[in-house]
Amino acid sequence: MSKIDQQVMTVLSTVIEPELNRDIVSLNMVRDLDVADGIAEFTIVLTTPACPLKDVFVERCNAAVIGKVAGIESLRIRWDAQVPTDRRIHGRLDVPMNSIVAIASGKGGVGKSTVATNLAVSLADAGAEVGLMDADILNPNIPQMFGLGSGRPKVRNDKMQPLEVFGVKLISTGFLTTPDKPMIMRGPMLHNAIRQFFTDVEWGRLDYMIVDLPPGTGDAPLSLAQSFPLTGSIIVTQPQDVAVADAIRAAAMFEQLKVPLLGVVENMSGEFFGSGGGEKFAESRDLPFLGRIPLSANVREGGDYGRPIVIHDPESEAGRAFRRLSEQVAARISVVMLQGADVIPINIVG
Ligand SMILES: Nc1ncnc2c1ncn2[C@@H]1O[C@H](COP(=O)(O)OP(=O)(O)OP(=O)(O)O)[C@@H](O)[C@H]1O
Ligand SMILES: [Mg+2]
Repeated sequence: MSKIDQQVMTVLSTVIEPELNRDIVSLNMVRDLDVADGIAEFTIVLTTPACPLKDVFVERCNAAVIGKVAGIESLRIRWDAQVPTDRRIHGRLDVPMNSIVAIASGKGGVGKSTVATNLAVSLADAGAEVGLMDADILNPNIPQMFGLGSGRPKVRNDKMQPLEVFGVKLISTGFLTTPDKPMIMRGPMLHNAIRQFFTDVEWGRLDYMIVDLPPGTGDAPLSLAQSFPLTGSIIVTQPQDVAVADAIRAAAMFEQLKVPLLGVVENMSGEFFGSGGGEKFAESRDLPFLGRIPLSANVREGGDYGRPIVIHDPESEAGRAFRRLSEQVAARISVVMLQGADVIPINIVG
């Protein structure tokens, strides 16, 4: 490294990543620095392609370098993203997934599948590799929300190939059954079905594996959490008191299972169910509040007709709320995975 390169790196090491609260040089986010003709050119490797903070980085880097290192008049920043790897997954699972996130609730019908769908689509739209597993084995809704009937997944080399819609890889028992021939299963069979969705499906490399759970504190979340190292769970609740009471039970279950809680989403917020219950719940348990999604006919129609609102009406209030939510979730995943690590292991798995 030349002297001027070193000077630039030294001043860049005063730039703090706002979510992770560490400097961008020790986080290994600054790569391929090249200084020529008064321009410092480098790549910032973000921890998620869904990062909303690019403007903040540009501002902070400029403030740190310009006028501080003689001979540099401007910066040229390139962007790249590598979702950090949850090391526990690679210790225990022979699948190339960087993170596994469960979407859960206490009460049924609060909008888990809707949140899982729009979250997965937003992350994929931002450039991430995303899988969505419908772990509601008995009452699968994900196919409908993606506009799919019983489109049979192909089998290759003994592995099921996920279907891909809006850039998201999908697996659901809805692809294997029809509503008039429901799956009838006991607990152990459910457990096996969820396991097989991890081990017998050719997911390929994933940045985010989103798992849509059935409601409540039953077999499915238990099987999932005991069989796989979950990066975290997200609790979806409606704003009203009875929904929040059930959400508290769900949160307590994940705490007992030692699954990190990434935060709380309040869905169907507005005049009908009220608003604020989700945020109060998050505060009372000291959990991050990830966002509020309004009750809106567009969202329901999007679910019924397989047109997720983040794709079909991205500028609507709900569309924007879902996209902000996906940024919050991506940031929380980065924080949870990198917390406490001495050297930040970005890109430990290629
Ligand atoms: N913000 C919203 N505004 C309007 N309708 C919504 C909203 N969120 C979800 N819905 C609708 O509410 C119904 C239930 O949502 P969804 O199926 O996502 O809930 P769920 O928690 O997954 O249910 P279950 O517990 O049965 O799995 C669906 O018809 C969905 O389209
Ligand atoms: Mg559901």
